[in-house]
Amino acid sequence: MKTKHNIHSINRNLPPTILTIFGATGDLSADYLLPALLHMHQEKLLPKYFHLVAVGRRDLTAKTYLDFIVKKSGVLKKLRPKDKASFLKLLTYYKGNFEDAKSFEPLAQMLADKDKPKHACYNRLFYFATSPQLFSIIIHILQDSGLLVSCSAHGRQSRVLVEKPFGFNLPSAQSLNKLLLKYFSEEQIYRIDHYQGKETVQNLMVVRFANSIFEPLWNKDHIERIEISVFEKDSAKQRAEFYDQTGALKDFVQNHILQMLALITMDQPLDMTTEYIRNEKIKILKALIPFSTTSSSQSEATLSLQEESGPSSPPKIGGVPTAGGGSGINTPWVVRGQYQGYTKDVKGESGTETFVALKSFINTPRWKGVPVYMRTGKALSKKLAEVSVHFKEPDRCIFRHCAPNILTFRIQPDESVHLQLNNKVPGFGIDLHQGDYEFGYNKAFMSEIPSAYERLLLDFMEGDQRLFIRSDEIEAAWRFIDSITNSWKNLPLHVYKPGTNGPEASGQFIKKDGKEWWTK
Ligand code: BG6
Repeated sequence: MKTKHNIHSINRNLPPTILTIFGATGDLSADYLLPALLHMHQEKLLPKYFHLVAVGRRDLTAKTYLDFIVKKSGVLKKLRPKDKASFLKLLTYYKGNFEDAKSFEPLAQMLADKDKPKHACYNRLFYFATSPQLFSIIIHILQDSGLLVSCSAHGRQSRVLVEKPFGFNLPSAQSLNKLLLKYFSEEQIYRIDHYQGKETVQNLMVVRFANSIFEPLWNKDHIERIEISVFEKDSAKQRAEFYDQTGALKDFVQNHILQMLALITMDQPLDMTTEYIRNEKIKILKALIPFSTTSSSQSEATLSLQEESGPSSPPKIGGVPTAGGGSGINTPWVVRGQYQGYTKDVKGESGTETFVALKSFINTPRWKGVPVYMRTGKALSKKLAEVSVHFKEPDRCIFRHCAPNILTFRIQPDESVHLQLNNKVPGFGIDLHQGDYEFGYNKAFMSEIPSAYERLLLDFMEGDQRLFIRSDEIEAAWRFIDSITNSWKNLPLHVYKPGTNGPEASGQFIKKDGKEWWTK
C-alpha cells in the first residue's frame, strides 16, 4: 500500500541564517545549490529569517545573477516568475576579489548590519563551492575581513561547508584540515559528501539496524562478498580540465564509494548522534587493507594487499587460499580504464583513468577474508548506483542448485531495495527459481524523494553534522587511496567503448575469483 509522507512537513524551526556561497556562478551552484535553495524557498523550508549572499568574480546584480543562473541551470527553466521575484528579496550578489581580503570588508559590514534589527541575530554560514585551489584563500579571507565576527547573542555560530575534492592526497587533505582547524572547531566544519544526503544511502543504516533479521548474518560467516557499482552515463567532457587532474579513483572511490562501504559494513553505533556514527565509520576506513606493489612481473604490474595475517591464518579469497603471510598475491587487484575518445574531450594525451575497479578487504574480525569489489566509471552504459551484499550459499543444498541470496540497495535511479530468494517453480518436480523481492520507493511512497543537496543544506543550517564527514575519515580514506596511486603507475590503462560496462579486464578480474559483477 502506498503511504503519503509529506517531506515538507518537518518542523525544523531553523535559526536565522545568512548563507554566503563562494563560487556562486560555478556549475555546482547552478546545477545543485541554487535549484535546491529555490525549491526549499517554494516549499517554505528555509529559515524564517534567511538571506543568501552569492559571491562571484563577475560584475552582476542580484537580478542579473539570478537570470544568469536560470539560463545556465538545466533544472530552473520552469521557475515561476512569482517565485523568482520573492527569492530575489532574499538575495544579494557580491562581487569579490579573491586576491584582496580587504575587498570583502564591505560584505562583513553588510552581514553585521543584518544583525541589527531586533529579532535577527544570524548564524553565518559559508559554503566553499569554488575550485579547491581557492579554499585556503577563502579561509584567510574569512579570518582577515571580519566576516566571522558573528553576533554572539543566542549562541549564534559561524560554520563553513567545504565541497569536495577535500585535498588530492593525504598530505594535502591533512594540511587543509590543519588550516580549517586553526580557525574553526570541528563542530563548525561541514565536509560534504553529497551521497550521504541521498535517501537511499541513509536507508543503508535503517535497513541494517532497524531490522533484526540482518545483524546476526552480517559477517564473514554468512556473507561471501560485497559489491559497490556506480555507473555514470555522462562522459567527463563537461568538466574535462578538473576531471583530468582527478580521475575515477579520487573523484568517486575516495569519497562516495568508501563512505557507502563504511555504512554497509560498520558496527551499530551506540545511538544516532554524530560522534557515535563517525566513530563506527572511521573504524572501517582505517581497517581497509592498504595496497603495496609487487614487482614480480615487469610486463603486468600488479597491486597486492599488504596482508597482516600471519601464515597460520591465510586469507581466503573466493574459497581459494592465497599465499598466506606477507604480500605477493599474484592477482591484479585494480583495473584502470579510459573510454575511447577521452583524449579528445581533454584535448591531449592523458593517462587519467575514467574507470576503476578494485577489490579490497576490511581487516576486522567481522569482515576478515570477505572481498569487497568496487567499480565506477564515466561514459558507461547507464546511470546506476548499487550496493549489494552477497550471502553464502547454504552449507548443504538439498536441491539441485541453491542460488545465493543477494540483498541489493539500488541507490539510484529507481530507488529500491531487493532481496533475491529461492522459491519452488510450480510443477511436479522441485526446481528452484530465484525470485526478486522488491521494495520500490515509487511504489511505496507517493511523495517525492528529497534531493541530497536540500537535505544537506537543511542540516547545515540546523547544525546537524551526522551526514558530514569528520577530518579523520577523510584522512583514512586518502591513506587507502594513496596506497593505490603510489604504486599503480605501471598498471595498464584499458581502453573501453563508451556505452559499455567498462573495460573487459574488469569482467575478467572478478571472473578470476569465480564471480561475475552483479547489478539488479
Ligand atoms: C560528483 C563527482 O561528486 O558526483 C562527479 O565529482 C559525478 O564526477 C557526481 O558526476 C555524480 O553525482 P550523482 O548524484 O549524479 O550521482
